Amino acid sequence: VTLTKVEIPVLGATEQAYVDAFANAVSPATRMIVFSHITYKTGARLPVKRICQEVAVPNGIPTLIDGAHAIGMIELDFHDMDCDFYAGSGHKWQCGPGATGILYVRDNLGRLRDYWSDRAEVFWPINSSLAEYPFFGLQLQLQYVGNDNYPAKRALADACDMWDEIGRDRIEAYVLSLSAYCKQLIRQAFGESTVIYSPDAPGLSSGLTAFNPFDDRTDAELLKQFRDRLREEYGFVVRTTDFHVTLDGPEEHALRISTHLFHDERDVEGVVAAMYSLFSDMTS
Ligand SMILES: Cc1ncc(COP(=O)(O)O)c(C=O)c1O
Repeated sequence: VTLTKVEIPVLGATEQAYVDAFANAVSPATRMIVFSHITYKTGARLPVKRICQEVAVPNGIPTLIDGAHAIGMIELDFHDMDCDFYAGSGHKWQCGPGATGILYVRDNLGRLRDYWSDRAEVFWPINSSLAEYPFFGLQLQLQYVGNDNYPAKRALADACDMWDEIGRDRIEAYVLSLSAYCKQLIRQAFGESTVIYSPDAPGLSSGLTAFNPFDDRTDAELLKQFRDRLREEYGFVVRTTDFHVTLDGPEEHALRISTHLFHDERDVEGVVAAMYSLFSDMTS
């Protein structure tokens, strides 16, 4: 297996640039396209539907999408996006129990059998307790992995019902509005030229805001110190992430702020004010 990394734009990204990055990377030898719907590093939201419909499907390539952060944050329609596999966490934005998640498999692998018709078998559910019993059907095979934690799965289904009741479109709109507000306040406090790695454009933004207020954005220790003091002195818990803006560029670091359904505008105002106060203290 040869793994080809796709370099996606970080700063100044456009929907077309993401689509082009994948279109330019595939070849007749490509067996699968794997990518995050929302990257955990910067919170960029990739145009999944266009990548599937304009790059994957016309070239007969199956897609496996990591939607760890998308489940529960944005409204999703797997049939509409036309992916083959979609995996996501139950315990992040969906607020379900730990160690739960979802896996969408398109049409019981029907299309995978077409795409990989050069192989007699296309799928081995190796961690399933029912791997040897295909007559149970794929869904049961994939769900039966040792002794089941049935209450946790039930609780995840209940959390999903609650999200449906509130309305996933309303949840998405709310989370995105808080995230846009967060980016706006960061620019107001730290200046227009502050580097916010997360896109702030319709369709490309998410509930994650990654930015670095310091001049030297390669200084990991400085940012960790900032993150720890923000937690200890102000009570705000954020994490740091690291990434390369270009594949051969230096590693850069960002603070990553999540604006969740259970936050409100005062929380956003609070975290930005706290970050600005701490930043002023550390740079004075
Ligand atoms: C993009 C991405 N994929 C996968 C995972 C792992 O998710 P889980 O904790 O559900 O195994 C994470 C967790 O942070 C993530 O950010």
